[in-house]
Amino acid sequence: MNILVVKDYEEMSEKAAHIVVGKILSKPDSVLGLATGSTPIGLYRKLMDFYNCGLVSFAETITFNLDEYIGLSADCSQSYAMFMKNNLFNHIDIKRENCNIPSGTINDRSKECQYYEKKIKAHGGIDLQILGIGRNGHIGFNEPDVKFEAQTHIVKLDEQTIFDNARFFERSEDVPKSAISMGIKTIMQSRKIVLLASGKEKADAVFGMVKGQITPKLPASVLQLHPNVTLIVDEDAYSKINNNK
Ligand code: F6R
Repeated sequence: MNILVVKDYEEMSEKAAHIVVGKILSKPDSVLGLATGSTPIGLYRKLMDFYNCGLVSFAETITFNLDEYIGLSADCSQSYAMFMKNNLFNHIDIKRENCNIPSGTINDRSKECQYYEKKIKAHGGIDLQILGIGRNGHIGFNEPDVKFEAQTHIVKLDEQTIFDNARFFERSEDVPKSAISMGIKTIMQSRKIVLLASGKEKADAVFGMVKGQITPKLPASVLQLHPNVTLIVDEDAYSKINNNK
């Protein structure tokens, strides 16, 4: 694992944006795997800046998001589909038909999971996957005790995740209890992975991911087995590793 320790959230976002833009300049029709949540917002802002300066175009880029809440339609304000529109897609020249997010409202969920996997494969797989990390070590919505062989599947959200994500909802009861998520296998099939982590509250998860045992109890630990992972981590999120040197 290639580890880049940076000062703060700003520098993390900038370094990540450089990797994404570099990828798109070398391969404009890159397939990007994208995350939601607080962590990648700064990265998405930097991508908009690069686009607004005329340095990069996303006109040929394809994206696949990691996950979506079950029960939230794409036009619901808390859906990840809406998050992506508000935080990135509406502000760059990406074609809407090239932006893929699993549906949280389709009746036949297992068909949707298979369809999503097939679509990723039909585009030749993910070139560059962006990940955040949950305080419980989840990646995507692959919660502790997930099966490493899982592809896109329906997951029951962990109590910790529901608690952490309540900040995006009016009432904590409104947080959906399940989601559709790319599986660990889907993520591991990406050619390159960049995981971003910022803030003290991520220090335990980052420590476990980098220094701990490889175990489904801390899903991100599986990334120790991927040949091309870059962790961009700020000093706060890296603090437990530093303190244990
Ligand atoms: C979101 C996702 C999650 C988040 C993680 C961290 O698409 O897949 O794994 O990356 O929950 O969330 P934040 O960035 O809000 O701390």
